[in-house]
Amino acid sequence: MIPPIADTILDTIGRTPLVRLHKLTAGVIRAEVLAKLETFNPGNSIKDRMALKMIEDAERAGQLRPGGVIVEGTSGNTGMGLALAAVVKGYRCIFTTTDKQSKEKIDALRAFGADVIVCPTDVDPEDPRSYYSVASRLARDVPNAWKAGQYDNLSNTAAHYEQTGPEIWEQTGGRITHLVAGVGTGGTISGAGRFLKERNPAIKVWGIDTYGSVFKKYKETGVFDKHEIYPYVTEGIGEDFLPGNVDFSVIDHFEKVTDKDAALMTRRLTREEGIFGGNSAGAAMAGLLQLAPHVADDDVIVVIVHDHGSRYLGKMFNDDWMRAKGYLNKTGATARDLVAQRTDRRLVTVDCAEPVSRAIQVMAEHGYSHVPVTDAGRMVGSINETSLYDALVADASVRTQPVASLMQPAFPFVDISTSLEALATMITPDNPAVLVRDFACGETFIVTRADVIQALA
Ligand SMILES: Cc1ncc(COP(=O)(O)O)c(C=O)c1O
Repeated sequence: MIPPIADTILDTIGRTPLVRLHKLTAGVIRAEVLAKLETFNPGNSIKDRMALKMIEDAERAGQLRPGGVIVEGTSGNTGMGLALAAVVKGYRCIFTTTDKQSKEKIDALRAFGADVIVCPTDVDPEDPRSYYSVASRLARDVPNAWKAGQYDNLSNTAAHYEQTGPEIWEQTGGRITHLVAGVGTGGTISGAGRFLKERNPAIKVWGIDTYGSVFKKYKETGVFDKHEIYPYVTEGIGEDFLPGNVDFSVIDHFEKVTDKDAALMTRRLTREEGIFGGNSAGAAMAGLLQLAPHVADDDVIVVIVHDHGSRYLGKMFNDDWMRAKGYLNKTGATARDLVAQRTDRRLVTVDCAEPVSRAIQVMAEHGYSHVPVTDAGRMVGSINETSLYDALVADASVRTQPVASLMQPAFPFVDISTSLEALATMITPDNPAVLVRDFACGETFIVTRADVIQALA
């Protein structure tokens, strides 16, 4: 059926296609796997649904008034939905985002006339520099501002309860047995999942999480563990706090997927099925394949494709970027071989609140030139010999200041299967070390320039 004339672009949101997968699951899962293509929304993501719902609920509640300013901390897709609606409805938008996000996503927001403020990724949500805090400050200080608050604004979940869930139910004729979706704010999975479970309580709802995020452990133990938090590459999913929109009672299981597996699957989804989905769709598909032993042949599984691949052309779809991250090269020596040679495998860190003198002592004791810096157990930065030396020469009293005052960016995390060649390309003057994570045993190791030289010699 050809859709009728839409009065505005906002009337084209929703009613997205559900497409059967054929090659990606072959030989692994015999069940019917269907991709819900949210890329068909006008902003190319599922977030158009909740953005419009949040705005219209705020208008009804008198929180967003004519000529108002929409403020939000957004990784791009929610911003796009808000910006689209703002253009049609006549609002101004100011967004804060993190320096981890694709440049394409930020440029797209600016294309809609939004102001975008880029904030550092590796700081606590409560830190005044975080994109959450900056958005809250703007919402307070800018006249006539309204903060959408996608994490805790329950209009987000409601949008998916009212639209995404019913669409999936109708499109599958009620046959759906499993819903698989990446979890960020939690709106998609909580809203669609709740609707579907109300229709059929036997439906299983599987949330896809990243390594570096708190969701899975919280679901399984009830413990909010800051030690689970560290920087990761996968975009759109996983969090370092518990958003109000994540309804843990709706989600039956969280499956964690590595950055590498998510990136590789993002490419496979495009090359094998012609579905140009984003990084969280890759994570969701990879998570589903990991869960294959829990799938029956007659199951009907719906996987959410949250956003469009075009937003990741500079990343997961770029061979140089994939190689630099160590995601493409699979042969030869790997980080595992380097780490295996260690006699002392413990990762030594300093806390950002400890004095610089403590960092000097730790480095001297172990003969290290680089040490990761933590904040309550969470990796937030690094400290190195060169910047320490420069600072001490300039002002010896720096020894009593907290490590945070000399902190450099955090070292990137890579999978333990990363090749030696890839490690070598990642270790540069700006980035003297990488953290190697063995996801199987949950251990983290540091690999520095000296380690790579030794391995290559
Ligand atoms: C690309 C992408 N995938 C997945 C998600 C997660 O969806 P939700 O926030 O509804 O949990 C987001 C949310 O920001 C996203 O941008």
